[in-house]
Amino acid sequence: MFLALKGIRKSYGDSVAVDDVDLDVNEGEFVCILGPSGCGKTTLLRILAGLVLPDAGTILQDGRDLTRVPARHRGFGIVFQSYSLFPNLTAAENVGYGMRVRRMAPARIRTRVEELLALIGLPGSGGKHPDELSGGEQQRVALARAIAVDPTLLLLDEPLSALDAQVRIALRHEVRALQQRLRIPTLMVTHDQDEAMEMADRIVCMNRGRIEQVGTPRQLYDTPATPFVAGFVGSINFLSRALAQRLAPDIANRPGARFAVRPEALRLAHPEDRAGVIAGTVTAQCFLGGVLRVTVTVHDEALVAVAPPDSPWLAGMPVSVSLPGGSALAFDDERR
Ligand SMILES: Nc1ncnc2c1ncn2[C@@H]1O[C@H](COP(=O)(O)OP(=O)(O)OP(=O)(O)O)[C@@H](O)[C@H]1O
Ligand SMILES: [Mg+2]
Repeated sequence: MFLALKGIRKSYGDSVAVDDVDLDVNEGEFVCILGPSGCGKTTLLRILAGLVLPDAGTILQDGRDLTRVPARHRGFGIVFQSYSLFPNLTAAENVGYGMRVRRMAPARIRTRVEELLALIGLPGSGGKHPDELSGGEQQRVALARAIAVDPTLLLLDEPLSALDAQVRIALRHEVRALQQRLRIPTLMVTHDQDEAMEMADRIVCMNRGRIEQVGTPRQLYDTPATPFVAGFVGSINFLSRALAQRLAPDIANRPGARFAVRPEALRLAHPEDRAGVIAGTVTAQCFLGGVLRVTVTVHDEALVAVAPPDSPWLAGMPVSVSLPGGSALAFDDERR
């Protein structure tokens, strides 16, 4: 294990921003910190960067206690959401900044800057100032600046969220490919579940300062530990116990549990085609390209299902709903 956070806690006045966080990061791993606005993602990242001192807890890197080591001595690379380049410096000067601070020889810096600009696909743009670069290009330069000093850990705080959808998706792949090539362990904050699922080896799902679950994208999707994770990673339908008893009698008798089902697990059929399933009504449908999202109402409960894009469902149609055994989720902790 490369990095270990233990019992990290940080409050601002009465409000707890980061609450007793334990987390390990392995060599070469890409970890996404995913959670809603205000859940403490940036605070946790800033604690790791050395920009915020935690109230309690320790940070160990390869066994060395970093908790009180100042940011500039941690050797980490950092990229923030936007406007992180020095506006008065060219792209090349931005990329070379950390090397100049470390008093590397100018010729060596020039060569390295050129290598890095080529690596991020911007050879020849070194003379441009940030305001002459697109948002995506600026973030690539910020990334090059962060990796220029051979950081032992890369910290990225929503580096793609200010970009338009197409650039964002292209850069997800570029950042991930670059990270895999350089094998720099990376922690990236995002509130975008697609981004986290696409990029991360493991996702840390946070809520109100606490970690709800850590796991691979598939683990979080298939076996969410809490209703919060189920709702934040992918879409989900929560079911009343009465409806769960009809749709998923195999699990619905667990006392105190909450029940849920993913949209793609629900099967829709014409009422005359199937017997032994629940009757409902289609209340809305929405064409999403690859799939049709269909809202059905069953016993006054709205459920979202997905169907093939060419299926005939229209609002007002009667429908039969069923659920294959084993595809419902049950959460035992009702307090969350
Ligand atoms: N310097 C500060 N002073 C006071 N409160 C702060 C400070 N920084 C963060 N907080 C509070 O701590 C909580 C967590 O904030 P944080 O910025 O870590 O959230 P976040 O998950 O990064 O949210 P977002 O997705 O909106 O960036 C919030 O309630 C925030 O108001
Ligand atoms: Mg933030």
